[in-house]
Amino acid sequence: MGAWTDGRRDDPVPCREVDIGLFEITIRDGRGRLGRLHTEHGILETPALLPVINPNIRTIEPREMWDRYGIGALITNSYIIWKHEGLKNVATSDGVHKLLDYPGVIMTDSGTFQAYVYGDVEVGVEEIVEFQRSIGVDIATMLDVFSRPDMTEEQVAKCVQETIERAPASVVAAGTTMLNGPIQGGLFKHLRTQSAQGMGEFDFAIHPIGGIVPVMERHLYKDYAKIMLASIPHLPPNRPVHMFGCGHPMLFPMSIALGADLFDSAAYALFARDGRLLTPWGTQKIATLVEWPERMPCVAHLTPVEVREMEKDDRIALLARYNLEVTLAELDRCKQAIRDGTLWRLAERRSHQHPALREAFLWLSTSPHNKKLDLQLLEELVLDDRDAAKDREANPGKWENAWDWIVNSQESPRKGGEPWGGEDTISRPHIHAAQLALKQHWRPQNRDGKGREEVLIAYGTSGPWRERLSDLMARLEHHCPGLEVMIQTPIGLLPYSLEDLNPFTHIDGPQWLWRRRPNPLKVREELKHYGMGERRVILVDLLGDGIQSRALDALFEAGVLDSVSDSDVRLQSLDKEQRDEAKLRLQRRHVADKMVLLLNLKREVVNTMLKDSTFVVNRLGRVKNALLSNGTHIVSPRLTDGGLSITNGGALEIHALRTNSLPLGFEGNEKQSSVSQGPAWVVINDDAEPFVRQGRNVFHGFILGCDSWISPGKTCLLVNRKGELIGHGLSQCTSSDMQYFRKGVAVKTRGGIE
Ligand code: GUN
Repeated sequence: MGAWTDGRRDDPVPCREVDIGLFEITIRDGRGRLGRLHTEHGILETPALLPVINPNIRTIEPREMWDRYGIGALITNSYIIWKHEGLKNVATSDGVHKLLDYPGVIMTDSGTFQAYVYGDVEVGVEEIVEFQRSIGVDIATMLDVFSRPDMTEEQVAKCVQETIERAPASVVAAGTTMLNGPIQGGLFKHLRTQSAQGMGEFDFAIHPIGGIVPVMERHLYKDYAKIMLASIPHLPPNRPVHMFGCGHPMLFPMSIALGADLFDSAAYALFARDGRLLTPWGTQKIATLVEWPERMPCVAHLTPVEVREMEKDDRIALLARYNLEVTLAELDRCKQAIRDGTLWRLAERRSHQHPALREAFLWLSTSPHNKKLDLQLLEELVLDDRDAAKDREANPGKWENAWDWIVNSQESPRKGGEPWGGEDTISRPHIHAAQLALKQHWRPQNRDGKGREEVLIAYGTSGPWRERLSDLMARLEHHCPGLEVMIQTPIGLLPYSLEDLNPFTHIDGPQWLWRRRPNPLKVREELKHYGMGERRVILVDLLGDGIQSRALDALFEAGVLDSVSDSDVRLQSLDKEQRDEAKLRLQRRHVADKMVLLLNLKREVVNTMLKDSTFVVNRLGRVKNALLSNGTHIVSPRLTDGGLSITNGGALEIHALRTNSLPLGFEGNEKQSSVSQGPAWVVINDDAEPFVRQGRNVFHGFILGCDSWISPGKTCLLVNRKGELIGHGLSQCTSSDMQYFRKGVAVKTRGGIE
């Protein structure tokens, strides 16, 4: 297998000087992000894999990495170059790009890993950074102090402290060269956090998570996940996160879902030397293979048997290519999953590939921070987990914050179906976000200051329920106003008023999921969240004919309809006027509940606003537009995801309701607890105001402040520094993203107000 000679790719175009070092997010899925890092050697698209190049042994030529595989960045070791006279001379005179014959982004490491393996290195802290700068690397690395997982707390604390103390001189030595500021801290959560906070203070371009190679070698993936969650939420979000020494594709989906942007891989070459193949589900030895785990382009014309018979060097080079191709393919899957909003699902699927990865995933989705599980199950899960028990004792509630950090970044509602994946489905963070929002915002109606004492729970079929239930709903609205109807879905009870809300409505799974009879204890628990824990539950099965009369029968039996004096309401249809009146009230409730849930508005305020409102409906009876009594069109329910779009008129009405002060600045903490405070405000600076007024997107760097409860996908109001409304749009990020990022779109403007 010779080197690649089939065609060259153009050299990259250097980024504008003002942009160099800046990182922007183009698309996100929770904490998973597609980004662009601006460098002198082009834009590096992330998540990215940086293959490790040993300048002495090049298993695959860097030029081939660029030309054939389109690899935008690689990593090599400056300490090896520094120590080797021949390499050092070429690098110093011609630069590292010439030395490696590679036109893309070059990152170098500093010798820390060598110090970990061999005990020490002879180079100085500033010296190695100056050297990296002098040979023209794009991203240099400071000489951090490696923290091993077997170290004591005291030893690790020293590594963290020493690394932080080396930071200022390293940053000065790097000058304008981008610099990696590694995070250490071993397996100690508070030290990882301390390291992240301490290093985040300095002007680093990227933060690698260090000290994880031995964790990965020993398959301690749960610790790996904990390290990420103890570090990443405490770093400035506008800096890419690099997982130092992580190149196994099996770890990519989970890592990216927890906020990783960069990986480096020596594994592709090291494993090839051992005759091992990387796959997204683990590692396989070629010695026993008859078929390829994945038929990658470089081996499409060969069988594993033929490859085994090749000359050693050729075989190693071919297997290294194979490993690289597999690794890049998995990275592509992750990137597409971010675009599709399915990254967590990919991580969930991959978690089944290795017991340790499954353990990590279950820890993430079901450990104490995730309160959805009943306590009994929880105890069973953590009994054998001394770590978790210790953690909880030492830091009660702390991991909850990490889970919140994931949940708060989820977009909800989203478009598309939600495939059922067993009990894991309920732990998906965007599902959790949807459940949480409902519990925080939705409440039963309270007519005349009184709630009813019953609640009707419909179960038995998947949606849409509208056609099946609309006549019944009109009659109930007429005969027993105030009676709440909830639908049982596989992910929880859904109020009928929100019957088209994703993801509740779009769970794609076997029919038995929907057929399950409601579990009385679970239902009671859920109803408590809505203040309906004491209500009598009346069940009605949606499957089969005569739903209307069965429901009315059940209500009679339960005595709910007793008070109606007429002979038998079951036999009477509503007349047109009664039906129209009931339907109008149902439409009003539908829109009001969406405004409360999705625009974070107070129920009473919405009720006042929608008094005498009217609705334009489509031929299926679904509300298209909501109009105030004066004719102003304020909102339109979205058919695709059950969401709500606001109009300029709606934005003006809602803007006028604000009682909070103008958010000039950033609270930093992302929090969701500001229930009923209205849609978040984003304060735009004077330079951007005219553009936003024309309907142009809001870019990072032009924002003076925002409310802490803003989150991706949510409607927000755009105001100038005087608090005047200049537009509205959909946020692309969290409040700390707004605080830190300097490039990229912060809000997609949906309407500008001239
Ligand atoms: N390579 C693998 N792990 C590390 C680390 O912790 N620090 C540095 N500088 N390089 C690494």
